[in-house]
Amino acid sequence: MFITLEGTEGSGKSLQTQKLVGRLRDNGFTVLQTHEPGGTPLGTELRRLLLDRHELGLVARSEALLMNASRAQLVERVIRPALERGEVVVCDRFADSTLAYQGAGRGLDGQELSSVISFATAGLEPDMTILLDVPVEVGLARKHAQDQRNRFEEEAMAFHTRVRNAYHALARSQPERWHCFDGQEDPEQLSQLIWVAVDRVLRAHT
Ligand code: TYD
Repeated sequence: MFITLEGTEGSGKSLQTQKLVGRLRDNGFTVLQTHEPGGTPLGTELRRLLLDRHELGLVARSEALLMNASRAQLVERVIRPALERGEVVVCDRFADSTLAYQGAGRGLDGQELSSVISFATAGLEPDMTILLDVPVEVGLARKHAQDQRNRFEEEAMAFHTRVRNAYHALARSQPERWHCFDGQEDPEQLSQLIWVAVDRVLRAHT
């Protein structure tokens, strides 16, 4: 079972990923927790370039390819082996981030990006995707001070609004895979709601 979490900046994904993994382990599941970009030695290097190296002037296509280089490495070296061992994999961001950020955010073509993604993942798709939805201004206010923002956090409101809208559209297009939650809900309450949904999908899956 492969579960991904998605959302705009400051949606609370990292905290909810942590809480979900804890609940899964408490219920006896062996869990592999990972994140994108990153999760492998190559991915960690690429993450640094992608988030912090403002001076490289990465163009959108390079950005999309580097995200997918990180993804290819993560899928083949980490995610597939864990799924083959029968583990539950929980990944903080995955391919939908590319469609939302590099597609809607940067304006790259969705179909072209989908081809790059399916090459990178060799066709692996999540069984379940959790969307944490928060208004853009609420999420950004939870993030770093203005002078410490990474290359994505420093983008304009319009960019983040396109990303948020893209997530809504993705969720509508595959309602059986996507489960949407209000990221402004109390974190404990939210974690309980997510657990109910995951538990239901796990039961249907096994
Ligand atoms: P993340 O570590 O989730 O940051 P945060 O916890 O601050 O949301 O993700 C890092 C950034 O990378 C985030 O701004 C979204 C971006 N990103 C893309 O633009 N495309 C992608 O394919 C992925 C995986 C992430």
